[in-house]
Amino acid sequence: MLNVMLIQKNVYILVFSVFPRKDDSMDLVSVNREKCVKCGFCINVCPGGVLGMTSDGPQPINRACIRCGHCVAVCPEDAIDNVKAPIADQAAVSKFPVLDAETAYEFMRSRRSVRCYENVEVPREKLLQLLEIARFAPSAGNSQSVAYVVVTDKEKLKQLTEATVNWMAKEVENGSLMGQYFSGVINHYRETGTDVILRDAPALIIATAPRNLARGRDNSHFALAYAELYATTLDLGSCWAGFLEGCAASGFQPLLDILNLPESNHVTGAIMVGYPKYTYRRLPNRRPLNVTWL
Ligand SMILES: Cc1cc2nc3c(=O)[nH]c(=O)nc-3n(C[C@H](O)[C@H](O)[C@H](O)COP(=O)(O)O)c2cc1C
Repeated sequence: MLNVMLIQKNVYILVFSVFPRKDDSMDLVSVNREKCVKCGFCINVCPGGVLGMTSDGPQPINRACIRCGHCVAVCPEDAIDNVKAPIADQAAVSKFPVLDAETAYEFMRSRRSVRCYENVEVPREKLLQLLEIARFAPSAGNSQSVAYVVVTDKEKLKQLTEATVNWMAKEVENGSLMGQYFSGVINHYRETGTDVILRDAPALIIATAPRNLARGRDNSHFALAYAELYATTLDLGSCWAGFLEGCAASGFQPLLDILNLPESNHVTGAIMVGYPKYTYRRLPNRRPLNVTWL
């Protein structure tokens, strides 16, 4: 379920939420006894050991359902439904795996950190299309609690860059380990006016998560990684806004004042998004794989 809340002009927060439903384990699943062949697949794939086999087929034996939907998704007979992950909301898979290994390898390798964008706005519908896939990234305990703030207002984007640079200058003053690197970035910005933080991208997607959720940052990074990969298929480019994330994580108030997040949430990741100015002709290499076998 997607909710869009406008919190300021051109700053809107998208909340992909899972609505809690009645948590009565006995009503959790319904099994079509004529269809069920008691294969036990639903029991085997359940992360919480929620189901046990009875003479009537699978039945709940505890309340640890995290609404992952696996019991329904794996059933070869379409015999089981789950009120927390209804079969009616589950898309059928026509082909698995969807991509062959060679295509997937090239697709994933061809994502680049895009730092040069066309001076063209990205329609809101397209940004929503990009974020729609982020809903399907894994999240700890299937918590699905990442909420997004999307900034498209040019003035606000400039203010965010300026605030981040000011934070970096404070870090340099305070003798941060990143001082030398930050100094170079600050000088480049102040001397040339180049937007070294947000790269003049027309949109910035900021992931936020509840402060009290231990794995909120991990969840947000997985979600944004999905968006980054998917962006290439929508003719979009993206790049992590790690400086801005660092600034927000440090609690730098001038930046937080611009974002005006709800008290419950903090910034857990950010990517800039726009139409890439250039097409890359090659796939850069990486360090060799480092694996230890035990
Ligand atoms: C957590 C994280 C933070 C990053 N922050 C920035 C950033 O603030 N600015 C930037 O230009 N690139 C940033 N990057 C992009 C990396 O520099 C980039 O991924 C790396 O150079 C490899 O290039 P590629 O993404 O094109 O393969 C960040 C990447 C990650 C994963």
